[in-house]
Amino acid sequence: MDRSLLEAAADLLRKAKTVVVLTGAGISAESGVPTFRGKDGLWKRFRAEDLATPEAFGRDPNLVWEWYRWRQSLIRKVAPNPGHLTLARWETRFDRIDIITQNVDGLHRRAGSKNIIELHGNIWKTRCTKEGTVFDSEAEPAEKGLPRCPDCGAILRPHIVWFGEMLDRSVLENAFALSAACRVMLVVGTSAYVQPAASLPLTAVQAGAALIEINPEPTPLTEMAHLSFRGKSGEILPAIEAAI
Ligand code: OAD
Repeated sequence: MDRSLLEAAADLLRKAKTVVVLTGAGISAESGVPTFRGKDGLWKRFRAEDLATPEAFGRDPNLVWEWYRWRQSLIRKVAPNPGHLTLARWETRFDRIDIITQNVDGLHRRAGSKNIIELHGNIWKTRCTKEGTVFDSEAEPAEKGLPRCPDCGAILRPHIVWFGEMLDRSVLENAFALSAACRVMLVVGTSAYVQPAASLPLTAVQAGAALIEINPEPTPLTEMAHLSFRGKSGEILPAIEAAI
């Protein structure tokens, strides 16, 4: 690993009091959770239009639930990796560190992080299609058929932001405010392809933050990044920690 790059990142982080980490599917890849757009990505094998849109759910809710239950069964079996665990340890290192994640797998929380903004929802939550009430569903065994709201009997849907849907407004406002206020933003394991998440680093840079990217591949953000690590977050985040 490039020593001078590690030193430069450690130096930025030593001085920073407020840090934001924007994460994507890549941070969970080493845990065994498939990403979306890589070689073996989910969107290479499945059509998002059939599984992750409100129209798809309207047409065939059983199919959509089957797919989410399959993903739940994959995620249930895996554990947070050294990337998630390093970020969890960093909560006591800075005055303030927030994780803004596009992931729905809940692995940051399982690793022990507390300040987490889940931009795209959570696969362990359901939402009533009639009244909008959100329920925790982690404890429930993967059942068959359509889950129903315990209050009104309407069908429950995954509490996930699908293509064509708006992100929760207060969640998004909070994410942009934190991005504008941080001194360092780390962008870890995202293709930076999906908006509005991909605009958060731009906001941070425009407000004067230093941008550090960790990804085995270049992304549209790479040119803007002050420091770019080409590699796996489960190796690079612990190495940066050791350098700090
Ligand atoms: P993508 O699958 O688009 O991108 C994953 C990124 O992780 C790629 O840039 C990879 O190069 C990188 N990567 C792979 N292995 C890695 C590793 N070990 N360490 C670090 N990086 C690694 O996933 P996202 O950018 O998260 O939406 O996709 C954004 C959204 O698109 C997702 O939240 C999802 C999807 O549709 C919803 O679920 C609502």
